[in-house]
Amino acid sequence: MDLRETIGNPCSSALLCAVGVVLTVLVLELVQKYLKNSRNVICIGAVSQLVIYPMKSGKGVNVTSTECVEMGLKCGEMKDRHWLVVRENGKPMSTREEPRLVLVLWREGIQGRDCGDEASLWLSSFVNTGKTFRLVQFEPHMSPRNPGKKLPLIPDNEKVAYADICAIMLLSEASVTDLNTRLEFDVTATWFRPNIVISGCEAFEEDSWDQIQIGNVKLRRVMSCSRCLSVTVDPETGVTDRKEPLQTLKTYRMCDSSEKKFYKTSPLFGQYYSVERNGIIQVGDPVYKIGY
Ligand SMILES: *[C@@H]1O[C@H](CO)[C@@H](O)[C@H](O)[C@H]1NC(C)=O
Repeated sequence: MDLRETIGNPCSSALLCAVGVVLTVLVLELVQKYLKNSRNVICIGAVSQLVIYPMKSGKGVNVTSTECVEMGLKCGEMKDRHWLVVRENGKPMSTREEPRLVLVLWREGIQGRDCGDEASLWLSSFVNTGKTFRLVQFEPHMSPRNPGKKLPLIPDNEKVAYADICAIMLLSEASVTDLNTRLEFDVTATWFRPNIVISGCEAFEEDSWDQIQIGNVKLRRVMSCSRCLSVTVDPETGVTDRKEPLQTLKTYRMCDSSEKKFYKTSPLFGQYYSVERNGIIQVGDPVYKIGY
């Protein structure tokens, strides 16, 4: 049967017409959706700081431009929280074939490659508590952690190397400024170890940005960042008073009673985001909130 014959058939023409109508409706719907989406985008601030922490709990490195991928920020070979310091008793995974090379660490079977004795000696003498520490590195072939398997608020497919919860921790400058009005000494955003710092918004506005876009990168809010004693360590000196700013945060940043099961008695400061679309982020980039 050739095409002319098909079109000539009244039954087929009706079918073609029906298909045409359906297609038109679909296209109109798409256009409407697009217009609606673009109306639902609003600029809420700008990126003022980008920080990568190559070693979990270690010093941050400020960068002006970074890749943002599934497992967090990355600048060349430098990846966020891909090195981890462990106690010497991190148990070897396989005994004879790979002695001390790949360690399975405490909890959850976290993997990492041992970086060798020199790094261990340096770290142990730097920390200088008489204990031996080792440095391990997360490699691409290793199994990432899925914090979502244990914690209900985190998506099941969230993957991290050694970060606690999520790929990205985001904080606004205004939240830090607000906290400083209540403290006897000033802290900086650095005390809270964010990856992305946002300027130009009100304090704690980040708590309500469920989906944001920076450049091509799309981020989705996962949960609040609950704070512990680690925020009492002065990032410049490595000294802690074990009190502030944690105590002050506890006076006004506790969760709602409905969320007690997630956050318990920790105050909330900053937000965790997962990466929905990879891309490049630069200091100065405008930040858009999607779908308000
Ligand atoms: C990164 O930049 C911030 C803001 O200028 C500053 O407070 C912090 O000390 C810097 N961090 C490092 C490791 O240089």
